[in-house]
Amino acid sequence: MPNEKQANMTKKTRKAQTISEKMIKVDHTGENGAVNIYRAQYLAASLRAPQLKPQLRHFQQHEEEHREIFRQYLDKNGLRRCMSYHLSGIGGFALGFTTGLIGPNAIAATTYAVENVVLEHLEHQIEFLKDDNTEAFTAVSMIYEDEKSHHDTAKAQLSQQTWMARIIVKLVKLSTEAVIAFGMR
Ligand SMILES: [Fe+2]
Ligand SMILES: [Fe+2]
Repeated sequence: MPNEKQANMTKKTRKAQTISEKMIKVDHTGENGAVNIYRAQYLAASLRAPQLKPQLRHFQQHEEEHREIFRQYLDKNGLRRCMSYHLSGIGGFALGFTTGLIGPNAIAATTYAVENVVLEHLEHQIEFLKDDNTEAFTAVSMIYEDEKSHHDTAKAQLSQQTWMARIIVKLVKLSTEAVIAFGMR
C-alpha cells in the first residue's frame, strides 16, 4: 500500500483554468516569494538592521500562513502550483538578501513596493471573486488585513526618498507585476 507521500506524488492534478483558479495559483506563488523576501531580510538584518528582526520574523510568519491558505485551496481542488513557484522563491530570497544588506531604508522600500502592488491586486481580486467564487473570495479576504498592515508599516518607515529607494521601489514593483502577469497568462 502506498504511504501518504507516495499517494501525494501520484495524485492527479490539473492546470488552473478559470480566472479564479489562476488568481489563487498566483497568490500562492506570490506568498512563496514574500516568505523568502522576509526570510532573507531577517538573515541579512543581523548585520545591518538588527532592530528590524522581530518585525521581519513577524511578517514572515504571516506570509507562511497566507501561503498555507492558498496551498490548501490548490490541494483541495486538485490544482497544480504555478510553474514559477520556485523561481519566485529564489528571486524573493535574492531580493531580500540584497536589500537587507543595504540597510533599513532599502528594507522598507522593498516591503512598501511589494505590498503596494499586492494590495492593488487583492482589491481587484476581491471585487471579482465576490460574485464568482465564494471559496476563493474567502481565502483572499483572509489575508487582506495582514498585507495592509505590512504596507502601512513600511510606508511609515520609509524615511528617506533617496535615489536608491526610488530605484528599489520601481524594480520591485516591476518584478512583482511580472510574477502576477506570468501566472495569469
Ligand atoms: Fe502575504
Ligand atoms: Fe505581506
